[in-house]
Amino acid sequence: MMSENSIEKLILDTVDLPSLPPVASKVLQLINKDGSSIVEMEELIAKDQAFSARILRVANSPYYGRGRSIETVSSAILMIGFNTMKSLVVAASLKDMHNRFGLFEKKLWEHSLAVSIAASMIAKRTRLVHDEEAMVAGLLHDVGKTVLNNNMADKYSLVIQKVFDEGASFYAAEIEMLGFNHCNVGGLIARKWKLPKGLEVVIEYHHADELPAFDDSSNEVLCGIVKTADALCLNLGIGFQMHKAIPDIDVQALGLTSADLDKVSADVEASVQQQLAELLAL
Ligand SMILES: [Fe+2]
Ligand SMILES: [Fe+2]
Repeated sequence: MMSENSIEKLILDTVDLPSLPPVASKVLQLINKDGSSIVEMEELIAKDQAFSARILRVANSPYYGRGRSIETVSSAILMIGFNTMKSLVVAASLKDMHNRFGLFEKKLWEHSLAVSIAASMIAKRTRLVHDEEAMVAGLLHDVGKTVLNNNMADKYSLVIQKVFDEGASFYAAEIEMLGFNHCNVGGLIARKWKLPKGLEVVIEYHHADELPAFDDSSNEVLCGIVKTADALCLNLGIGFQMHKAIPDIDVQALGLTSADLDKVSADVEASVQQQLAELLAL
């Protein structure tokens, strides 16, 4: 087993860590506490016309727009909410990070969207963290895979092959074939991007059996929610189907009963396809 420092060195030697698209970076730093941040968000998005047009297209889809026509970024923020807009910006930026958008990239993006939807539903049900925080965490949890796939496409395609042929988990196949995994890479990215601690914890530890002790226990809860959402989506076969690699869901840790989980699972299944179809237009 390699030490943490040598894993980090190996990654920094082999992987070129991208920067977070500036719009997403600025939007992630905005906190919804007063009107001024809405104006700031509007200015940030409106600066880029192509980007604004994409966001408006999704904001006008039946799910978000609920049949009303939204023509400006400011009315979109008022109509769909500051936090949903924040998630849309992060989702669009995440999509833009892919160098190409073939079948695997589409599945990976779908997986991130589905996990974010499921995580926000679990957050709403448990009321343990803000649902929008869970949504952004779900979107970004596997960002390490995107970076690996962009950086070492040939090697990573062998990892993908192993996952699909042998039903291995990405995590295990990556360690075997690369010597590190998408969580190691994700942790470095989260620190480079100066993401909030909760997001960093989710990105780095969502496959860990045990988490280090944190000052703020809500980080652990957020991580548990994304872990559960991740397993739930794999169970439902959304994004990827790798039956042998599906982790157990620890419902009790979140204070959920298995009936609660069945309900969340049914809700995700009922709404995720429509939301995915609309978000794919981003
Ligand atoms: Fe993962
Ligand atoms: Fe995942």
